Amino acid sequence: MTTFLITGGAGFIGSWLCRSLLADGHDVTVMDTRRSHLLDAAGKIKFEKGDISSSETVAEVLRKHRPETVVHYAALLSADAEADSSLGYRTNIASIWPLFESARTAEVESVLFASSNAAYGPDVGSVAEERIYAIPTTIYGISKIYGEMIGTWFSKKYGIRFAAFRYASVIGPGRGLGGASAYTSLMIQKPAQGEAYDVDVRESSRLPIVYVKDAVGATLFVYRNLRRAKQTVFNVCGLARSPTAVEMARAVRRRLPGSEIRFRPKEEVVKIVDSWARNSSTRRLSSMGWKPQYPDLDGLVSDFIDEVRGNPKVYRI
Ligand SMILES: NC(=O)c1ccc[n+]([C@@H]2O[C@H](COP(=O)([O-])OP(=O)(O)OC[C@H]3O[C@@H](n4cnc5c(N)ncnc54)[C@H](O)[C@@H]3O)[C@@H](O)[C@H]2O)c1
Repeated sequence: MTTFLITGGAGFIGSWLCRSLLADGHDVTVMDTRRSHLLDAAGKIKFEKGDISSSETVAEVLRKHRPETVVHYAALLSADAEADSSLGYRTNIASIWPLFESARTAEVESVLFASSNAAYGPDVGSVAEERIYAIPTTIYGISKIYGEMIGTWFSKKYGIRFAAFRYASVIGPGRGLGGASAYTSLMIQKPAQGEAYDVDVRESSRLPIVYVKDAVGATLFVYRNLRRAKQTVFNVCGLARSPTAVEMARAVRRRLPGSEIRFRPKEEVVKIVDSWARNSSTRRLSSMGWKPQYPDLDGLVSDFIDEVRGNPKVYRI
């Protein structure tokens, strides 16, 4: 059994991670500014209400719980960080150094950090590979590169084991409405709930995606293999070739014929999505032996729909 502290654990990916850690018998504490029904559904979890940008609170929570491993998920997502860049800076960037300092003082052994595909700037080309020198142009992207670099520095200087995960668009039951990539999840979620959905990108728009179960699986796979990991930064993507939005719509209709999915592109969303890499290489992860459980679109869509329909109270958006 390992003791974990998950910042932002009341959110979408965090609550799925909590569920997986509890199932494996670990001791889990979440620090977040809010509780959520997703977190409550995850099971028996200790909860600390607290803001990641308060270094005193972070230090106190770490002193109190003395976790062996910290998973740092608390962040403003891309659109919110850009809309209020000063809050984005305080939440996503200024909190990083104090978090690592407190982790070092509390003798934390490992830190896992949610980076993002957004860490690659607009000039990434069509396939994002970790070795590419990234120049992000958003506060969100900058915060992810900064977290990766500070984490890697702490691991070299003080021996804290560290890994950062450049998640593709993570899709799955319970993902919220925010962000330009939200369509990748909502175009499955809404028809599963029996609702129509207007997609705000073009039929040809294409983003790398990963099912939330695989995002959590990849994170825990690297965690279990941290001692032999040669790198600290990993792309996490589930499908070898990213589907276009219309291919996703067709997969949903194959499973739920008659689903009302309409394309109503919004130029501002199309512009953001088109500036991101269309595919993400997972060579690093696969060379360590990781394989996604949901590598094909139809299997992923089917499991997603079954989860939403099987647990409507938990996952309804
Ligand atoms: N969802 C995706 O597609 C995706 C892709 C790449 C990276 N990520 C990263 O993964 C992490 C989790 O994302 P998610 O999709 O679960 O988002 P989410 O918004 O569902 O979860 C983030 C959580 O952080 C909490 N939080 C925000 N500000 C906080 C603060 N000041 N102090 C404490 N907690 C705070 C929120 O309350 C929320 O519960 C984030 O770091 C995000 O940037 C997500």
